[in-house]
Amino acid sequence: MRIIGKVAELQALADCERAAGEKIALVPTMGALHAGHLSLVETARERADRVWVSIFVNPTQFESAAEASRYPRDRERDLQCCRDAGVDVVFAPEPDEMVDPANQTWVEVGEVARPLCGRSRPGHFRAVATIVAKLLLAAKPHLAVFGEKDYQQLAVIRRMVRDLGFDVEIVGAPTVREPDGLALSSRNVQLHPEARRQAVALVRALDAAEGAVASGELDAARLLARATAEIEKAPLARIDYVELRDAHSLGPVPEKLADPALLALAVYFDSPERDAAEAVRLIDNRVLDPRRASSSG
Ligand code: PAJ
Repeated sequence: MRIIGKVAELQALADCERAAGEKIALVPTMGALHAGHLSLVETARERADRVWVSIFVNPTQFESAAEASRYPRDRERDLQCCRDAGVDVVFAPEPDEMVDPANQTWVEVGEVARPLCGRSRPGHFRAVATIVAKLLLAAKPHLAVFGEKDYQQLAVIRRMVRDLGFDVEIVGAPTVREPDGLALSSRNVQLHPEARRQAVALVRALDAAEGAVASGELDAARLLARATAEIEKAPLARIDYVELRDAHSLGPVPEKLADPALLALAVYFDSPERDAAEAVRLIDNRVLDPRRASSSG
């Protein structure tokens, strides 16, 4: 496995691989790799000859420097995970290779980046879109794989690629979960054990809403109330948002769902011991499809 830290070196390798007719898949990550990331590597492997993983904790996409510095980092473990998974190249640049304080150019995606995490974390998607654009320009992949766990991020990247005419296919991959249903996330290790137990409330909220749709409930307000009630059963949970959005545009939904709708959750989990500033924010989502509703409802 080759480990590369410089953009120019990665671009030169991409040119060689492309000239040799090899198909490159890129899996962008911030490290702290888990089975969710590795499922993206699998998807990449099925679709390409070369699997490249980038590991870069993008400092610009966090809410604060403190949050960025708390993000888990374990370079040796990540590299070993990549070796074990048969990754061909790891791109692991130093911050100054990717982020220039004098930078004047940003990629700003419109409507689809505004609600949900775009509203609660201003500047987040601008930072994500800009770094993903730079990673795509550095690796020149034929395809890039992203998780549906970060549904809005995937939508933002798809929109950016379409709007700017990037020559890359964006592939979405399903969310990998713990046995109790909690979506895998690099942030889960930051949860206090009691908060970890309570975090299952997220998937319970998604299940409850999905079950309600299946039995014919299409009233958006009542579905949101069902999901919210499940989350509120967890005393350490503080809701950032619980929203229904059009699954395609992320625009508002009608009072009575007619088309697939995204139920998106973002919830802070406090620790019984630490102060609220160190709460861990988890997100999860599910697409609710009214066409799966029973006609009796
Ligand atoms: P990171 O949070 O490390 O996630 C990297 C990729 O793994 C993303 O595409 C994310 O959606 C996917 N992923 C995370 N948890 C998953 C799970 N449980 N199942 C399936 N896929 C999962 O997302 C980022 O990094 C950054 O924003 C990045 C795109 C790298 C830009 O900095």
